[in-house]
Amino acid sequence: MKREDVLMEALPYIQKFHGKTIVIKIGGHAMVDPNILETVIQDAVLLRYVGMKVVLVHGGGPEITEKMKAMGKEPKFVAGLRITDQETLEIAQMVLVGKINDGIVSLIANCGARAVGLSGNDGNLLIARKMDLQKIKIGDVEHEVDLGHVGEIEEVDPRVVHCLLEQGYIPVVAPIGIDRSGKSLNINADTAAAELATALGAFKLFNLTDVDGVMNADRSRIYHRLKLHEVEAMIEDGIIVGGMIPKLLGCMKAVGSGVTSAHIVNGNKGHNLLLELFTDEGVGTMLSV
Ligand SMILES: Nc1ncnc2c1ncn2[C@@H]1O[C@H](COP(=O)(O)OP(=O)(O)O)[C@@H](O)[C@H]1O
Ligand SMILES: [Mg+2]
Repeated sequence: MKREDVLMEALPYIQKFHGKTIVIKIGGHAMVDPNILETVIQDAVLLRYVGMKVVLVHGGGPEITEKMKAMGKEPKFVAGLRITDQETLEIAQMVLVGKINDGIVSLIANCGARAVGLSGNDGNLLIARKMDLQKIKIGDVEHEVDLGHVGEIEEVDPRVVHCLLEQGYIPVVAPIGIDRSGKSLNINADTAAAELATALGAFKLFNLTDVDGVMNADRSRIYHRLKLHEVEAMIEDGIIVGGMIPKLLGCMKAVGSGVTSAHIVNGNKGHNLLLELFTDEGVGTMLSV
């Protein structure tokens, strides 16, 4: 394809997306390599400059685990779910808010845009309540497990984000919620991004992760387009498992509540965000109603 053709292919999309809100979740694994993170931030800043309202939400699981080990504390997981005791919550807050969020805000500044870091307690952005006991099967026995200081989102107050967007800032949100008594709770970042996209009435929700998209059972190919009912069936059949489940449940909720489409894209490959948005074919999985 000639260079001018590439630009001409992007043009109608640039027109269509102008002024629209996009929520981008950056996965924990996509943030371990600073070069990858920088590419993602460059893309986000470019979107801002073509007139989109960009909101970033980040995870941080791998870095939290690393920091805990460095501090001599062994992370506890039950069936893949992290148990967040008081000390874990404090470390998670330090890593998410103090390090990752702040780092992303600085990177955005380096790329020539302005960002403001937020977590769920800023402007009551993410009101959560402690999650119920989880029923988890270990072998044949079902156990009731208390995940600790982990929350599910009850209410989103997106006003602070609207204010920042109106003033041209890129809000960067850390997935920490606050309960009605003022206590912090750890929130799954995929869920936080989806709830935020829904509350903002976003046009698109993007999940940048470490695989090319939603894959089939033997992981030999990705689906470029999926409908809600297809995803439901894939979860039921055990084709979608682990960390992909909260992503897709979030995407389903967002798309079911008016977000036009949700995308799962490999954030580890350069400029995939732009390719998915501005080319006819796309590169990852697009989920729509
Ligand atoms: N059907 C599927 N297609 C692709 N990936 C899947 C699927 N089911 C489960 N996964 C897993 O989900 C992972 C992505 O989720 P996760 O590890 O939580 O990453 P992130 O840090 O982006 O949240 C993939 O690396 C993959 O192992
Ligand atoms: Mg995850």
